[in-house]
Amino acid sequence: MAQIAKGLEGVVVSDTALSHIDGERGRLIYSGYDIADLAHGATFEEVAHLLWLGHLPDEAELAELKAKLAGFRELPAAVVDTIRALPKTAEPMDVVRTGVSALGAAQRFSGPASVEHAMVLTASMPSIVAAFDRLRRGLEPVAPRSDLNHAGNYLYLLSGEVPSEQRTRALDTYLTLTADHGLNASTFTARVIASTLSDMGSAVVGAIGALKGPLHGGAPALVLDMLRSIGKPENAEAWLTAALDRGERLMGFGHRVYKAEDPRARVLRSLAERTSEIDFFKLAVRVEDLALKMLHERKPDRKLYTNVEFYSAAVMHGVGLPDDLFTPTFAVSRVTGWTAHVIEQLKDNRLIRPASEYVGPVGLTFVPLERRSTRAPA
Ligand code: ACO
Repeated sequence: MAQIAKGLEGVVVSDTALSHIDGERGRLIYSGYDIADLAHGATFEEVAHLLWLGHLPDEAELAELKAKLAGFRELPAAVVDTIRALPKTAEPMDVVRTGVSALGAAQRFSGPASVEHAMVLTASMPSIVAAFDRLRRGLEPVAPRSDLNHAGNYLYLLSGEVPSEQRTRALDTYLTLTADHGLNASTFTARVIASTLSDMGSAVVGAIGALKGPLHGGAPALVLDMLRSIGKPENAEAWLTAALDRGERLMGFGHRVYKAEDPRARVLRSLAERTSEIDFFKLAVRVEDLALKMLHERKPDRKLYTNVEFYSAAVMHGVGLPDDLFTPTFAVSRVTGWTAHVIEQLKDNRLIRPASEYVGPVGLTFVPLERRSTRAPA
């Protein structure tokens, strides 16, 4: 029998120059640069340039990229109409997936995948999320602002008000930290779709579907549910003990690749300290401390640490995003990585088509439909 790498753990299926995770040492680099340096010193647009074009931009290149992104923010009417036709109670990730699909139908990402396609998709994503959020609140979508950066425009599209410098910077840092992350499930999905020579819009639609699951990008709202349910630091020990005794997973902890602290969690923790209410931050820190202690005691060989989702929840809550927009906001960021990976995949493409080990029956005798019965005799 063939050796099966369940979950493809440890299987290398492509090379990439986009990001590298050193899971043992808890390090992440984007095209050579340490994530902490980029989070502190670069903007989301600079990082998008790095991922799409392979180097950090100079001032002229950055101005050009920003102008192009701003020019692609307005959604085609057909996309807004599609979002308008959806139930107000729809799950936002379903709307984002549908919105990007409608964008593909309205705009057509035909021809070879390009940086321009990547920019259209990245620029449109905040417009899709915000249009739905406003429509479900009985408000009309507002026109995008070309004088604001990507993060600032996203917050503006949601609220209709120019956000503070502090909120814009906090969201910008979050977007930078989560823009790419090796061959995670959604990025792999995007590369599989790209490898069939489908278009970039389809690759992003598939990736959104993969990101939605709680084992990938769907965890941050669940982190907030957990913190709210715990309520105050004094309740944390009993709550966490009971959850682990029931065999539940603690949201925001553990990672397939990191066997040390996720470096993004470190940056997000200090960002959360500045953006969230003090009591909320104290609760998060207490829960993190206890959860790590308990996970290490109960699963000493598993090396479970805080992942990116734990403090993402606090940061996104702190900048005023509603809980159910946390995962869509992750998509607003990660679309940069997905599209960069599509471009990279197509530079040296080979159809991604793994094999499976057949474990079903063989040699069954075919019975025609009229003589077939799967019910047990009475
Ligand atoms: N809480 C409790 N136990 C955990 C947790 C957790 N958060 N994470 C892993 N474990 C335990 C598992 O129960 C398992 O124990 P066992 O072997 O004794 O049964 C062991 O650690 C290994 O778990 P796996 O699921 O095999 O590890 P995997 O690499 O597949 O898991 C994952 C990674 C899915 C992220 C997991 O840690 C998890 O479910 N975490 C909670 C959900 C979460 O935070 N998701 C966001 C991930 S970050 C991102 O995708 C952006």
